[in-house]
Amino acid sequence: MTPQATGDTLRGAVSLRHLSKAFTLNGQPLPVLRNLSLDIRAGESLAIVGPSGCGKTTLLRMLAGLEAADSGQVVIDGRPVAGVGTERAVIYQEPRLLPWLTVLENVAFGLEVRGIARSVAQDRARRHIRLVGLSDFENAWPRQLSGGMAQRVGIARALTVQPEILLLDEPLGALDAMTKLTMQEELARIWREENVTMILVTHDLEEAIFLADRVLVLSADGTPPALIPVDLPRPRDRNGADFVRMRRMLMGRFGLH
Ligand SMILES: Nc1ncnc2c1ncn2[C@@H]1O[C@H](COP(=O)(O)OP(=O)(O)OP(=O)(O)O)[C@@H](O)[C@H]1O
Ligand SMILES: [Mg+2]
Repeated sequence: MTPQATGDTLRGAVSLRHLSKAFTLNGQPLPVLRNLSLDIRAGESLAIVGPSGCGKTTLLRMLAGLEAADSGQVVIDGRPVAGVGTERAVIYQEPRLLPWLTVLENVAFGLEVRGIARSVAQDRARRHIRLVGLSDFENAWPRQLSGGMAQRVGIARALTVQPEILLLDEPLGALDAMTKLTMQEELARIWREENVTMILVTHDLEEAIFLADRVLVLSADGTPPALIPVDLPRPRDRNGADFVRMRRMLMGRFGLH
């Protein structure tokens, strides 16, 4: 259990309030998000899907506090976000490990830079390295890891700082199909065990249905976003009739079969 689960108030609730964002392209405004409002429960798993260029990464960067909205607010546990914060951790498509540090040192690094003593930081790091199944590789260097292992180290590193909210931008997008399925199972387990709010950008509609409580569908043409609840029991069965039906429905929204 992470500290945000104190008493019975779980932390990590996110509200998007009338968020709008436009970039400028060839001197013309390029609207990306238009007046998006959404409440995400503490501990919820939300997937964000939509065509390339629809604004998924932009939205995630706004949640991370790396990008400012033109108007509207991101509110976390009642406080408006003004920049990056320690209650949020971001996981990208590539793990971004420091090549000169071992697995253990990479995972402990985020705590050490916050002034936590090395021995304490490494003890905490070990717990999360175990959680992602890499205890035997604590002393390995990043270059000795496979892509999936490196990404698991990145996940452990994000969890070690005990965030309330995990923001993931296509975290499994660079992995081969088999590793990806295994990692989806791991993310489902980690989300359950760690009580974090998980906001996951993915291109993979099946991954969205496998992991999310709700799927936010963004469009690139100005069609208002849709929010689709995934009312399927967990752990989810990709071959179950309801799962298959849900996948077909979601693919249909994108004109896919
Ligand atoms: N810093 C920026 N300056 C100008 N335009 C930008 C900037 N960042 C993103 N954009 C534009 O905003 C739109 C949304 O980009 P974003 O990266 O959020 O899309 P995405 O949904 O994550 O796409 P993908 O699925 O390909 O990752 C795109 O048209 C992109 O060109
Ligand atoms: Mg993106």
